[in-house]
Amino acid sequence: MIGIFDSGLGGLTILKSILNVETHGHASLRNYDYIYLGDNARAPYGNKSQAAIYQYTREAVDFLFSRHCRLIILACNTASSEALRKIQQEYLPEHHPEKRVLGVIRPLVEEITKHAKIQRVGILGTRATVESNAYLTELRNLKPRLEIFQQAAPLLVPLIEEGWLSRPETAMILKKYLRPLKQKQVQALILACTHYPFLLPQILRIMTKRVFVPNPGEVVAKSLADYLERHPELALQATQNPRVQFCTTDDTTAFKQLGEKFLKQEMSNIEKVIL
Ligand code: DGL
Repeated sequence: MIGIFDSGLGGLTILKSILNVETHGHASLRNYDYIYLGDNARAPYGNKSQAAIYQYTREAVDFLFSRHCRLIILACNTASSEALRKIQQEYLPEHHPEKRVLGVIRPLVEEITKHAKIQRVGILGTRATVESNAYLTELRNLKPRLEIFQQAAPLLVPLIEEGWLSRPETAMILKKYLRPLKQKQVQALILACTHYPFLLPQILRIMTKRVFVPNPGEVVAKSLADYLERHPELALQATQNPRVQFCTTDDTTAFKQLGEKFLKQEMSNIEKVIL
């Protein structure tokens, strides 16, 4: 069982790519059992303190472990920025040394830094992700001379959740957030929030084709496939009849309604849980 955690529904962009990725050794990623947990009752995380984000994320991780996950992906950028390191370095070694928790930052950063020509990178994220400097730190670790420009975009998540993807108001706000990054002539842009890929066509239009904007879901899915190949000791079993179980800490009806729009497929197993 593989756990996918997000503060809410945005992480479905990651799950969607995972379920679509074509090959992984002999088995497709589609052939594993997944449990998706959205902490909708406490979302959004993006404007919360580090202490709160760490506490919520740890509760989510404990829940997913109690449901037999041996590997968890923190699809949430805010949780990856504010909680992952402490979970990996302090919590797991003491309490669950045989289990693994991964985030979305490292794969995205590697995707950018492997292009030698990219010297100027923009990061668009929630306020907490930007203030944590987690992307900036990882990028600098791999390529100290990069020029990095960060922009918090706190209004985008609510607009996307309202389904306002093609409204002129959203286009106007998006342009305002992207303008400083465009002025800095970034060559690559990291979408450091689960929701922003829904605005990818609009973002590409504003930034133009000259800017490399990787799709986070695709990058994370590929990196998960690699990880599973390199870590047979996790002994995750591929199966002929894989299951995807959905859990939310809030109302299941609203979760299903918006979730099916995000995932573009029917979501049948939805359970309300308490963390
Ligand atoms: N999932 C969050 C992220 O990727 C966005 C929504 C929130 O703020 O909780 O940062």
